[in-house]
Amino acid sequence: MKFFVDTADTAEIKSLAASGLLDGVTTNPSLIAKSGRKILDVVAEICAMVDGPVSAEVAATDYDGIMREAKVLRAIAPNVAVKVPLTPDGLHACKALSSDGAVVNVTLCFSAAQALLAAKAGASFISPFVGRLDDIGQDGMGLIADIVQIYRNYPALKTEVLVASVRNPIHVIEAAKLGAHVATLPPAVLRQLYQHPLTDKGLAAFLADWAKTGQTIA
Ligand code: E4P
Repeated sequence: MKFFVDTADTAEIKSLAASGLLDGVTTNPSLIAKSGRKILDVVAEICAMVDGPVSAEVAATDYDGIMREAKVLRAIAPNVAVKVPLTPDGLHACKALSSDGAVVNVTLCFSAAQALLAAKAGASFISPFVGRLDDIGQDGMGLIADIVQIYRNYPALKTEVLVASVRNPIHVIEAAKLGAHVATLPPAVLRQLYQHPLTDKGLAAFLADWAKTGQTIA
């Protein structure tokens, strides 16, 4: 499973990229607003730090506007993935952009039917939002199971399932068990994946015993 980080905070991205475990980045208009920076500047900086796809979302909602904005975003760096909304105009643009060789991430997916449409439109990634479905009492992970199964039924569909709106490590593990290709994680959730109290306890005991030996290794 690939791990993307869902943030526009470049300091966080730099620190997480140093781990060597980061496969890409996703941003959205809310995350760009939170950064307080201009989208073109922040996406350029992220693209220079991370080799994998960096999703930058269009703000236009009509086909012509999406295509105009996609051209500007694609010019930032070769690893920009154009993020478009799951709307008729968004999928129309997805088809045109993917036919032109762009990497396209279709966002705001909340149903398997929408995911099927996005795949037929040539999306590189479909982003189903599990946390937001859970928030309204629906089964976010059930949607991931449905999409993974549907895409497996049609191997000609090359769209990767990018699990979004992830709120906790259980979402990540469940998505991995289902075979989702990617999870995009808030930095705090990515850091939580490392943690287990028995690891901390075990390490403290090993270090205490080691100190008693008086030895050094290097
Ligand atoms: C995905 O690409 C989105 O940016 C993100 O995962 C949305 O998550 P949220 O529901 O926590 O805002």
